[in-house]
Amino acid sequence: MCGIYAYLGHRNGVKIALDGLHRLEYRGYDSAGLAAIPNGEIVAFREVGKIAELEKAVGDFSANLVIAHTRWATHGKVTRENSHPQFDEKKNCAVILNGIIENYQTLREALRKEGVKFASDTDTEVIPNLVARAYEGDFLRACQQALLLLKGSFAVAIIHKNHPRELVVAANGSPLVIGIGAGETFVSSDPNALIHHTREVIYLADGEIGYIKPEGVELFDATMSQISKKTEKLLHEAEEMSKGQFEHYTLKEIFEQPRTISNAMMSRFFEEWGTVAFDDINLAISDYIAIKRILIVACGTSLHAGYVASYMLEDLARIPTQVEISSEFRYKNPIVPEGTFVIAISQSGETADTLAALRELKAKGAYVLAICNVPGSTIAREASGCLFLRAGAEIGVCSTKAFTSQLVVLTLFTLLLARMRHMSKPEGRKFLQMMEKLPGQAQLVLDQASHIEKIAKKYAQYNDFFFVGRRYMFPTSLEGALKLKEIAYVNANGYAAGEMKHGPIALINENCPTVALACDKVMFEKTLSNLMEIKARHGKVIVVATKKDGLDEIADDYILIPETYDELTPILASIACQLFAYYMARERGAEIDKPRNLAKAVTVE
Ligand code: G6P
Repeated sequence: MCGIYAYLGHRNGVKIALDGLHRLEYRGYDSAGLAAIPNGEIVAFREVGKIAELEKAVGDFSANLVIAHTRWATHGKVTRENSHPQFDEKKNCAVILNGIIENYQTLREALRKEGVKFASDTDTEVIPNLVARAYEGDFLRACQQALLLLKGSFAVAIIHKNHPRELVVAANGSPLVIGIGAGETFVSSDPNALIHHTREVIYLADGEIGYIKPEGVELFDATMSQISKKTEKLLHEAEEMSKGQFEHYTLKEIFEQPRTISNAMMSRFFEEWGTVAFDDINLAISDYIAIKRILIVACGTSLHAGYVASYMLEDLARIPTQVEISSEFRYKNPIVPEGTFVIAISQSGETADTLAALRELKAKGAYVLAICNVPGSTIAREASGCLFLRAGAEIGVCSTKAFTSQLVVLTLFTLLLARMRHMSKPEGRKFLQMMEKLPGQAQLVLDQASHIEKIAKKYAQYNDFFFVGRRYMFPTSLEGALKLKEIAYVNANGYAAGEMKHGPIALINENCPTVALACDKVMFEKTLSNLMEIKARHGKVIVVATKKDGLDEIADDYILIPETYDELTPILASIACQLFAYYMARERGAEIDKPRNLAKAVTVE
């Protein structure tokens, strides 16, 4: 989703900003632009499509102060006029924005009455006009006045032609981080895009404004009082942002899973006691014992990880668990009785809906444990505690390695709670031993890539799929179907196998294949009966199972995965589904790493 990058210093900021935009590409975007003030006038370049288009347009233009942006359309179509930067009528001021101005229509109407003519359909365009109207020679003051009028969740960077060495940035509900270099300052919506230049950063909190000049950065709070903040150090290593031997980041990330699964477990096993220890959170045993109910909030793939966890938490730890879609949940008036423990799952740590749910739950007094992959992300910082996935940057828009790491961390958390309640030490130990096998087992699934590729080739022309499963394989089927939708643009429904007969089976025929996740041992026989019903309607069936036994009459094709505990099977079955979706997408010529209309971090509602 939209990305911000800005630079003020002594070097060619255009090159640095374009490189910064490339580092934000993974978030998804549909147009890009930048602006600078080379000779007392604002010069801007804006292009629809890839950053390469912008690079072509920019040529060898250079400047020491640059604001740059990738846009993911929310208000107004994907056009050059709607891309950022946006300007006031006289092009005195230029603005880039990440997020949404909720009251832009009211502001636009008021400005229109004053005679302002708008050149775009964006919400952003009100900002340069408000700044230009408030400007009487003091740039910072004009920005402060304009910002006070805005409602919504956003991060913004502003320049003015009369101030060619000044940059104003602000954040409210959307991340913005200032990187402090030697005589130069960087700004981005993602700290990962700064780490190649500096590790000293300042995160802007809601309502804070940064006034960046060659001499340094001044900070102001929402009441316009000057504040001082210590810089923080970016701890994680700069990620290797290259695809290596792989054709796509998505494939590289799928293949990284033996390592990322192992990273998620590393130093968290407490083998002697058959339990788990988390160094990252500071909860006492009594806090865990006091948990009476768990509430999970998440979106997309993270939501599916939450569904898997709900089965485990109820089954192994015997704690009632409710899973809520963040975008729905945030508009409920949630009941949060004493003993409620919240888990907010978000790979990016920036998903606006999950963040809003987290804030509401914290306001109601709940402890919110975040499960995130991105250190320094807003959710990681605002949660009461955070367990990190340690999966490394996930560049492909569709989540693969982060999902399996979420499952690992959620399993470990379940184990911790289960051991404090009903699970015995030997059972805990056996569970950990089973988990230890996961990286090797994940590799065994990956070793079947060419077999799965062949199956994908065979089915690549089909436009409608079902993914079905029972118990742990039900949420896994939701995730399998989501992958196919996201990257192959194929209509795929994830469904509880036992529910097919209540309607969806009407869609089954020879043109609608089913990927049957028949790996749950407890529900194996029942799943078989459901698959028979599909077969009887001439549906083709691709079975993902741990063995062929009993499947002869059903399976048109097999993907065999190693046997493990039912609780852990979603990890292995999902890798098979990821490979299937990947090869389907490649066969159909879809754009895999950056699927159309999708964004990696959805920072708007
Ligand atoms: C976007 C991404 C999905 C992701 C979802 C939730 O829609 O495209 O891949 O699952 O956001 O993201 P989060 O970062 O909160 O896990």
